[in-house]
Amino acid sequence: MNVMRIKLLLVGVVLAAVQSTSMAAGDAEEGQKLAHTCLGCHGVKHYVNTYPTYKVPLIAGQHESYIIAALKAYRSKQRAHKTMQANASDLTDQNMEDVAAYFAGLGAEAKSGSKIADEPLAATCMTCHGPGGLSTIPTNPILAGQYESYIEQSLYSYRSGERKNPIMGGFASTLSDEDIGKLAEYFSAHNGPLRTAD
Ligand code: HEC
Ligand code: HEC
Repeated sequence: MNVMRIKLLLVGVVLAAVQSTSMAAGDAEEGQKLAHTCLGCHGVKHYVNTYPTYKVPLIAGQHESYIIAALKAYRSKQRAHKTMQANASDLTDQNMEDVAAYFAGLGAEAKSGSKIADEPLAATCMTCHGPGGLSTIPTNPILAGQYESYIEQSLYSYRSGERKNPIMGGFASTLSDEDIGKLAEYFSAHNGPLRTAD
């Protein structure tokens, strides 16, 4: 391969990278306008989903890409939850990017550390979700400091297949109820950027 061709290829790679970051970048100000309805649930501390009973997940400070992916999964009904499907159904891709930029940008300053002893079961999880659940990979949700009851609920629904994800379905299928309880307690006891939106 000649030098010219290598240079052209490099330019291509750089342009592609610039394009994909600018495409992923939502407008947080636009997002704030769309977020009013969301705050009715995600902006209330310890707000509880009734039936099954678990706390509405913290989304402020969550990864932008993960928020977008979650909203798309509700909109396509691949992810079950009637209210979230209804909330996502009105949003365009651009709306989702904007609202995700808004919520992702509201995170608390990330402190690391935890109030709990190491949990051997969590070692595999941390290869993807980061130390203590402080994931730095945009597609893998941050678990550190997420509500315990929501983590539990998610693991139960991956295990039952209600929430479909090939990776998490596989991991959850190996977990007992007791394991799920321990893992949820472990990750929720960590510090991280997640907080109630306001
Ligand atoms: C009536 C309450 C309610 C409203 C309003 C609401 N949500 Fe939710 N949201 C929930 C509940 C409950 C869940 C968890 C559902 C589940 O178990 O999948 C959730 C889940 C989510 C998730 C997935 C979080 C995760 O960690 O996987 C995102 C992202 C989200 N909501 C964003 C939004 C946005 C953006 C809006 C506004 C457009 C909104 N929600 C409006 C209750 C609500
Ligand atoms: C190979 C990478 C990988 C490993 C290992 C892994 N996860 Fe995940 N996890 C993911 C991805 C990707 C998602 C998002 C899936 C989706 O969109 O539903 C996820 C989602 C989750 C969620 C849902 C979070 C939310 O906000 O809704 C929980 C809880 C979770 N994982 C816990 C665990 C636990 C506990 C383990 C260890 C037993 C584990 N994960 C191992 C990649 C992984």
